[in-house]
Amino acid sequence: MASFGISIRPATLADSDAVSALLRDSYPTLMRRAYDRSVLAKTLPFMTVAQPKLLESGSYYVAESSTGAIIGCGGWTRERPDTGEVMAGLGHIRHFGVHTDWTRRGAGRAIYTRCLNDARNAGIQRFECYSSLNGEAFYSALGFVRLGLIEVEMPGGGHLPSVHMAAKI
Ligand SMILES: CC(C)(COP(=O)(O)OP(=O)(O)OC[C@H]1O[C@@H](n2cnc3c(N)ncnc32)[C@H](O)[C@@H]1OP(=O)(O)O)[C@@H](O)C(=O)NCCC(=O)NCCS
Repeated sequence: MASFGISIRPATLADSDAVSALLRDSYPTLMRRAYDRSVLAKTLPFMTVAQPKLLESGSYYVAESSTGAIIGCGGWTRERPDTGEVMAGLGHIRHFGVHTDWTRRGAGRAIYTRCLNDARNAGIQRFECYSSLNGEAFYSALGFVRLGLIEVEMPGGGHLPSVHMAAKI
C-alpha cells in the first residue's frame, strides 16, 4: 500500500487495454510541456501502446486506486530497451506513466519502490533509465543522476530527445 489508497501489483497481459488507455491519457498531456508537437506526433503512437513483453515479464507493475482503476504503470528489465544487452547487476527502468488525475500523489514513487525491492532481491545493484525530458525531475527525486542527453530511436523513424540517467540501488 502507498499513499492515497494506491496499491501496486505485477501486470499481466489482461491489463493491456487498461495500460494503453492510461498511457494515451498520460503521455500526450504531460509530455507536451517538454516537447514540440512535431516530435510527439512521430513518437506518441509508439509510446502510448502497452508492450506485451513487459506486461508478462513479472517485473512490470500497475498501480490501482481503491476502486481498482489502473492509474499508473512502470517496471524494470535486465535487457537494455534499445539493444537487448544484459549486464550482470544492471537493471533498466521501463515505460512509466501515471494518469493525469493522479500525478504528484505518490503513484510513480510507489511503483519505483516496488521495482527497487524486487530488483534488489534479484541481485540488481544499479538502475539506468532513458527519461523523458519532463520525467527528469521525478527520477532525480528518486536518486538518479544525469549521465547525458541522448536521442531514443522509435519505430517509424521518430526520435525522442531523452536523458540517460543512473542510480545505485
Ligand atoms: C514522471 C511521472 C511517472 C511521475 O509520476 P507521479 O506519480 O506524478 O510521481 P510522484 O507523485 O511519485 O512524485 C515523486 C517525486 O518526484 C518529483 N516529481 C514528480 N513529478 C514532478 C514534476 N512534474 N516536477 C518536479 N518534480 C516532480 C517530486 O519530487 C515528487 O515528490 P513530491 O510530489 O513529494 O514533491 C508522471 O509525471 C508521468 O507519467 N509523466 C508522463 C510520462 C513520462 O514522461 N514518463 C517517464 C517516461 S521515461
